Amino acid sequence: MITGIIGTGSFLPGTTITNQDLSGYMDTSDDWIFSRTGIRERKLAKTETTSSMAIEASIRAMKNAGVKADEIDLIIVGTITGDYVTPSTACEVQAGIGAVNAIAFDVNAACSGFMYALNIADAYIKTGTHKTALILGVETLSKIMDWNDRSTCVLFGDGAGACIVREKDKGIMGFDMGSDGKKGLVLACKNRDNNNILVENDKTPGYVKMEGQEVYKFAVTNVPESILKVLDRAGVAADEIKYFVLHQANIRILQSVAKRLQVKEDKFPMNLDHCGNISAGSIPILLDEMNQKGMLQPGDKIIMSGFGGGLTWGSVLLEW
Ligand code: ACO
Repeated sequence: MITGIIGTGSFLPGTTITNQDLSGYMDTSDDWIFSRTGIRERKLAKTETTSSMAIEASIRAMKNAGVKADEIDLIIVGTITGDYVTPSTACEVQAGIGAVNAIAFDVNAACSGFMYALNIADAYIKTGTHKTALILGVETLSKIMDWNDRSTCVLFGDGAGACIVREKDKGIMGFDMGSDGKKGLVLACKNRDNNNILVENDKTPGYVKMEGQEVYKFAVTNVPESILKVLDRAGVAADEIKYFVLHQANIRILQSVAKRLQVKEDKFPMNLDHCGNISAGSIPILLDEMNQKGMLQPGDKIIMSGFGGGLTWGSVLLEW
């Protein structure tokens, strides 16, 4: 059995913050941010929440796929910024769209969250227990940024992307998934400390801390290796791939991966200039932008690859 993507949708918050805008709040500049990252602007949530963005992206994906809410029997959301510890964002989406026949849960794999969700949905559908999955990557990263730490807060944005996944004649040809928990603290956001009748702690929540150069080294090594594994197992050459749809962390990472794969940079579509890094949201939002522009035709082979906190990574080869 082959599973594939039959519809996409996305949602971005209404407020755009440019690099120039940020320089009014902190000691930074458009030149510093753009030259190191490729980012010009990002959307930040004001009234939008992780659930509200996820619900809107889901409605758009269902419309694009021609699927009704009661046909969806599986909802998986990749996110690290849910509105609640419980209920999960997936359960909020279920209620919001009225998917009464679905089971729903979240996956915490940071910037690889959408790839993990797709990998799990593929396995569920292949077992035959579930038929129609709604999978999402969604983040309101701006709420876990330290806005006094200019080396991280300028990199990220908010938004949601969704896909409907079902059995199809063409689709997923193979995955490569991986995790390396030993290196987890190079990109971390601490949860609450113990706080009970035995011990009293600061109740301030944690914010994202990143060792940028370690993350860079991890990405430029693991991502090409992971992509080559998927291609090799499927017997597909890199030059047969129409697009490499990668997590939008940083233009320099994407350029380095292109170089290592000996593939032209124009095969790496990007939206980080106007979205920044939306962690789990970045791949499905980019995929939806490409789908809406008519860039994806039946039979096109694409690679999607996510990488980030955990550390985690995941790549898929897919025939559209
Ligand atoms: N504006 C102006 N100056 C800044 C800013 C800023 N926003 N941030 C840091 N600086 C300054 C620093 O204070 C430092 O100044 P100093 O030399 O006087 O001490 C100088 O710029 C260099 O700082 P570094 O942190 O060493 O900057 P670096 O060149 O490593 O670039 C970056 C940082 C862009 C994050 C880089 O490490 C990188 O590309 N890392 C890849 C990781 C990544 O992209 N992460 C994204 C999220 S993770 C993910 O999605 C997988």
